[in-house]
Amino acid sequence: MNKREMVIVLDFGGQYNQLVARRVRECNVYCEIYSYKTDIAKIKAMAPKGIILTGGPNSCYEEGAPTYSKELFELGIPVLGLCYGAQLMQHILGGRVERADKREYGKTEVAVDTSSALFAGVTPDTTCWMSHFDYISRLADGFVSVGHSADCPVAACENTERGLYGIQFHPEVLHTPEGTKMLYNFVRNVCGCAGDWKMDSFVEQSIRTIREKVGNGKVLCALSGGVDSSVAAVLLSKAVGDQLTCVFVDHGLLRKNEGDEVEAVFGPSGNYNLNFIRVNAQQRFYSKLAGVTEPERKRKIIGEEFIRVFEEEAKKIGAVDFLVQGTIYPDVVESGLGGESAVIKSHHNVGGLPDYVDFKEIIEPLRDLFKDEVRKAGLELGLPEYLVFRQPFPGPGLGIRIIGEVTEEKVRIVQDADFIYREEIARAGLDQDINQYFAALTNMRSVGVMGDERTYDYAVALRAVRTIDFMTAEAAEVPYEVLNRVMNRIINEVRGVNRVMYDLTSKPPGTIEFE
Ligand code: XMP
Repeated sequence: MNKREMVIVLDFGGQYNQLVARRVRECNVYCEIYSYKTDIAKIKAMAPKGIILTGGPNSCYEEGAPTYSKELFELGIPVLGLCYGAQLMQHILGGRVERADKREYGKTEVAVDTSSALFAGVTPDTTCWMSHFDYISRLADGFVSVGHSADCPVAACENTERGLYGIQFHPEVLHTPEGTKMLYNFVRNVCGCAGDWKMDSFVEQSIRTIREKVGNGKVLCALSGGVDSSVAAVLLSKAVGDQLTCVFVDHGLLRKNEGDEVEAVFGPSGNYNLNFIRVNAQQRFYSKLAGVTEPERKRKIIGEEFIRVFEEEAKKIGAVDFLVQGTIYPDVVESGLGGESAVIKSHHNVGGLPDYVDFKEIIEPLRDLFKDEVRKAGLELGLPEYLVFRQPFPGPGLGIRIIGEVTEEKVRIVQDADFIYREEIARAGLDQDINQYFAALTNMRSVGVMGDERTYDYAVALRAVRTIDFMTAEAAEVPYEVLNRVMNRIINEVRGVNRVMYDLTSKPPGTIEFE
């Protein structure tokens, strides 16, 4: 890894800012996101090999619209403007940007000049995703058009002498099938990045850096069994061995067998050299949750109890030097430290943990990585695939997949039903295809017949969604025969259930979780 060889994304408020950076990283080039308000001196100090200006919702000619000083284009660093970024570049350098009669939106054929470095190897008539009202009506001096569509005379432009490029469409989205190729051309061929951002070297380098930093120090990690904390823990254990202690709190709200699976990987019979402490706190959580029905209250209780349990364990361990957190790059960007379009995300899992542990410094070894990179690092580190490709699982666990009061009996029902569902989805080869799927327990009981007997049992709800960002989602079209098999097995194998339903709701208006 050579972190100094970096491309930066200057974020002008576009909705795809993270995606731009992810695509660049897919080209094995390290990339970070910064607000357009970032000072030029800071940019110079970072000495990026290239700069990408993102899209944004404004019109660059309007007063108060996000802008940048002309100096940015005089640093001798190649700049690629995307959509708003392309228009802004023209606006600043003396071109003209105007309101078009009609918005160009959606998949659009763009004729590109394949002799341009940006479009080397790209199909001359390529499909691109457009979304703009404004258009470039006159190019700044020194620029030529290298792409046009039916409605847009300048869909792409360049000034090769100065290393400045603009494209009106969005290469980062999947609707522009050759978009990554274009970004590759920019970062690898125009900017000349070597493409040495790879997970094997990341792992190697991180281990070295962690070793240096930790020295003989003691390190503590709260392990949840999720992807991020697992990868962080393994990285630390490879770096400092049994100077690391991992505390895994089993709150009794995990998926079936999950506690044992985590223990098998990280515990004494696993492959890693670390101190593993499993706290079997199931009964503590169940008794705190007795009689509680309101979802937010349940979340709060689980979160607070988690901290109490962890705090007690930490006290037994005594003072440590470092506390490990599994923060990843989207957390950094979304908490407002990275780009422009920040949303504040509350960290529900280990919220507030640092306050309760006696430590000197936090280590966040995955802070620079996107989720797919965390998974690659996990594979590099030899973590089993079922752990690395785990679907998201909420911190409060099954506590929020059981409507109404949480009891041990209900936990057993939802665990068994969910296990069958996951097994059948995997058997149908759909497990990597559906982004999140699980069984939840409705609080509804109704009359049924089983053999000659009348039953009065619970209804299980099955949920499966397709989503990219987990902010919006659609119910997945699970084949009927799969659902039918799952229904049959749940009814036959899980005591206490006499109905199975499939949740068709998208998000919005629903949420992904069923609480
Ligand atoms: P919702 O239900 O809000 O979920 O549509 C979106 C994504 O977030 C996960 N989720 C949580 N994750 N702690 C977590 O760590 C939580 O309290 C929590 N609530 C929801 C959910 O599984 C989905 O992936």
